[in-house]
Amino acid sequence: MGKINYKLATVLIFTTMSITILAVESSCDDTSAAIIKDGKILANCIANQTIHAKYGGVIPEMASRKHQLNIVPVVDAALKEAGVEQHELSAIAFTQGPGLLGSLLVGNSFCKAMAFNLSIPLITVNHMIAHVMAHFIDDPKPQFPFLCLTVSGGHTQIVKVTDYLKMEVIGNTLDDAAGEAFDKSAKLLGFSYPGGPLIDKHSKEGNPEAFTFGKPKIQGLNFSFSGVKTSILYYVQKQLKVNPNFIEDHKADLCASIQQTIVDILLGKLKRAAKEHGINHVSIAGGVSANSALRKQFEELGQKLKWNTYIPKFEYCTDNAAMIAITAHYKYLSEDFASLDVPAMARMKF
Ligand code: KG4
Ligand code: ZN
Repeated sequence: MGKINYKLATVLIFTTMSITILAVESSCDDTSAAIIKDGKILANCIANQTIHAKYGGVIPEMASRKHQLNIVPVVDAALKEAGVEQHELSAIAFTQGPGLLGSLLVGNSFCKAMAFNLSIPLITVNHMIAHVMAHFIDDPKPQFPFLCLTVSGGHTQIVKVTDYLKMEVIGNTLDDAAGEAFDKSAKLLGFSYPGGPLIDKHSKEGNPEAFTFGKPKIQGLNFSFSGVKTSILYYVQKQLKVNPNFIEDHKADLCASIQQTIVDILLGKLKRAAKEHGINHVSIAGGVSANSALRKQFEELGQKLKWNTYIPKFEYCTDNAAMIAITAHYKYLSEDFASLDVPAMARMKF
């Protein structure tokens, strides 16, 4: 009888076994759980927190308490929707950071307890890497190397991606993120939090060239949005002195002009990055990539410059656990597992 090749047998078992992962996202104000089986998303459930709207921003202590209430029902809903039993899970993944510490701790402790109880591996995921990896959920998937403009409520980055999970930040914001610029401008106009989607909505009726706001002159591939925010604030304050109804009278035009200013800054840097790095596979990701003007103008720019462009499905742009799940799938393949004492990290680099 021939000798058994144990190494080959292990590889064969590993590659033929199906990989089913439960992933949890709890970095900010949305509690989300997803199930992925062999790289395919079977469920992606999200409990949004509306409590922060009236405060004009996320209140961290309230967010973590809501996560505590939501996490069990959301995980249950995801397992049920996917038709997966706990004992079928191969691993549990969660967002390690960056984000709000209290919110992260809820996902961190819940997933550790579940992985320990089921005696299965634990996988940590960087939230910003996951936004980029959202491109691998559906087809068409980007070719390597590609650039990703990741724009969220806390980050604005241009990332060069050379392989699954292999990426480096080549441009970053020096102050506010693009999402913050949307949200803070929206607050000034009297919208509730998060104001980005409301600026998008009202912009549809407005003229993007009605008002001109100052744009930053930052060298290289970095961004700055705090000057834009101040420029909008001063302009609106000045106009309000002349006409107390200025915002109401010009709401759509103000929204469209603010949105266009932010989109111009983002696409200007992305264009420069693609040229400097000689890369024509270009993508956008993160909550702000749900913005209709950014999506449209990104596609138009791509056509003009002969880029291959990629945008994740709408529900995979804003925070979701499906992006955590797809990242975890690739980490599972490279057996990149975490120990049970891994901390939550409010700040976290790639
Ligand atoms: O990625 P994300 O869901 O959470 C973070 O990781 O921060 O991004 C949230 C940000 C918020 O600033 C929100 O206002 C912005 O994405 N956002 C939008 C739109 N949808 C979400 N900004 C502009 N237009 C939108 N349609
Ligand atoms: Zn995010």
